[in-house]
Amino acid sequence: MEQNTPLLQIENLKKYFAVGKNKVVKAVDDISFSIQKGETLGLVGESGCGKSTTGRTILKLYEPTGGKILFEGRDITGLDSRQMLPYRKEMQMIFQDPYASLNSRMTVADIISEALTIHHLGSAKERSETVAELLHKVGLKREHASRYPHEFSGGQRQRIGIARALAVQPKFIVCDEPISALDVSIQAQVVNMLEDLQHEMGLTYLFIAHDLSMVKHISTRIGVMYLGRMMELADSQELYAHPQHPYTQALLSAIPVPDPRHEKSRIVLEGEVPSPLNPPFGCPFRTRCRYCTEACAQATPQLREVEKGHWVACHLIGGGTDGAQK
Ligand SMILES: Nc1ncnc2c1ncn2[C@@H]1O[C@H](COP(=O)(O)OP(=O)(O)O)[C@@H](O)[C@H]1O
Ligand code: SF4
Ligand SMILES: [Mg+2]
Repeated sequence: MEQNTPLLQIENLKKYFAVGKNKVVKAVDDISFSIQKGETLGLVGESGCGKSTTGRTILKLYEPTGGKILFEGRDITGLDSRQMLPYRKEMQMIFQDPYASLNSRMTVADIISEALTIHHLGSAKERSETVAELLHKVGLKREHASRYPHEFSGGQRQRIGIARALAVQPKFIVCDEPISALDVSIQAQVVNMLEDLQHEMGLTYLFIAHDLSMVKHISTRIGVMYLGRMMELADSQELYAHPQHPYTQALLSAIPVPDPRHEKSRIVLEGEVPSPLNPPFGCPFRTRCRYCTEACAQATPQLREVEKGHWVACHLIGGGTDGAQK
């Protein structure tokens, strides 16, 4: 891999689901971004906007409807499950629900070492040593290996899920709302641990969250999704300091500030997210946008680079509708 080749390149990715007789949900609709080695790309947006589908499609747990996925410069889009096997080891996932994502009939040791067994990595003795090391890495104890998931708290279960993802020494992990289901008091602990592990093991993350407050510290860059499309993509600092898309501005204004003297004027998002079965023509956000004009119903705004590294999909920003795709 060349020095500057991103770890992942996602080009015009689409994932459509057929539902009912003739209906289609465009869960992910033509999104493009790349993730550099060692970085954390935050992905945010309200529930149902396509974040999990994006993560799962990148890992090829879903077959993409269109577009390309490149891992270390190699196109993995068309690989079948056998050809994907070496890549499965490189790319792992941490799930939102630490209760549903661990098999309740398996011991912690079996859960963590399952992927090692699948990939024929190490002898039984070596695997059990690896399990002990991983438990230590995620702040659990060797003795925990013989226990079952129900004996642990939510935070501890998430640690087990993280140890499972780390077992095969992946390069890339999709963290799908890994802290959303946890008590606020332990959310920061888990995020800090993920950051420490990232530095220690040279990991690259796609970190999914439903609001901007959760991704602020961990993300290098952040992408904001709405109804299957990318609305804005920028460096984390830049996005918080100069949000440009009306949707990002609304999401940011909804985050409570600790000091009420610095209370920002709140932008209230009116109405509901439209049904993904029947999204608005033109700009997907137009039914809730306070700047909406007639032009917004005519054409879908493309993501365009309005400043270096800052991409926005809005007719009002950066001019025109014919923007080049990222
Ligand atoms: N397997 C599936 N079959 C049909 N529709 C799906 C499936 N998975 C997700 N969807 C739909 O795709 C859209 C995006 O879902 P999802 O990616 O789970 O969003 P998020 O993770 O942002 O909450 C939603 O409308 C959801 O109902
Ligand atoms: S394109 Fe129009 S509706 Fe969409 S975000 Fe911009 S101003 Fe609002
Ligand atoms: Mg989700």
